[in-house]
Amino acid sequence: MTTEENKDKIPTHLAIIMDGNGRWAQEKGLPRTAGHKKGAEVLKPILEHAQKRGIKYVTLFAFSSENWNRPKTEVKYLVELFRKYLNEYAKEMDKHRVAVSFVGTREKFPADMVNKMNEIERETAKYDDFHVIFALSYGGREDLIAATKRIALDIREQKYLISAIDENKINEALSTHGAPYPDLVIRTSGEQRISNFLLWEIAYAELYFTPIYWPDFNEQDLDIAIEAYGRRNRRFGRV
Ligand code: IPE
Ligand code: IPE
Ligand code: MG
Repeated sequence: MTTEENKDKIPTHLAIIMDGNGRWAQEKGLPRTAGHKKGAEVLKPILEHAQKRGIKYVTLFAFSSENWNRPKTEVKYLVELFRKYLNEYAKEMDKHRVAVSFVGTREKFPADMVNKMNEIERETAKYDDFHVIFALSYGGREDLIAATKRIALDIREQKYLISAIDENKINEALSTHGAPYPDLVIRTSGEQRISNFLLWEIAYAELYFTPIYWPDFNEQDLDIAIEAYGRRNRRFGRV
């Protein structure tokens, strides 16, 4: 593929590590929670733009399994923020026509939120044009552990032989099953690490790091990342 052709290449699956809310706020003399509030607000235009650009799947790292270890007040604020958005979204699901799903240990959230997540997933599963996957209380290692247990159970129940374990069996056992592997991972805030996001799924994803804090990340920044992706030469180990 020539560079010219690559220029219009759009990732099918975009994954975003939405990082830098706290620093964005602190640099403005605001509490970290103000960054989370703003970070939640900027998400909608980004998702609309992603859909407009022809992206089919967006996975968002919103809260990691390790983020529970933050100060109680910050965790509480984040849980309330998720609750507010879940409730709002559940009310107008049909307006958006987006298939929304959740990965991560949702049972760690209060029961009303678990019910809302289940309801949103169930009611939006009929939409197929655009998929948004929220990683909430998600850890790549936790998900691999859960997948290993599922496979072990299947084998104990003699559903298949150990020799039948392959890439596909592992994919099916992961919470992300159903979505193709991410093509592009964007991490905002200048940190250049994965922080226990989709460990298995991003084996061949293109990684894009930007110093912009998540609350400042806008549609134009997304276009710049997509353009950079278009210039990448994905080889998948071939020549
Ligand atoms: C990302 O922003 C949001 C969550 C992890 C919930 P941070 O809260 O990590 O912001 P920084 O990295 O401390 O600036
Ligand atoms: C990763 O960011 C998780 C989310 C963006 C939700 P963190 O801020 O938790 O990651 P570290 O601690 O900098 O690695
Ligand atoms: Mg951070």
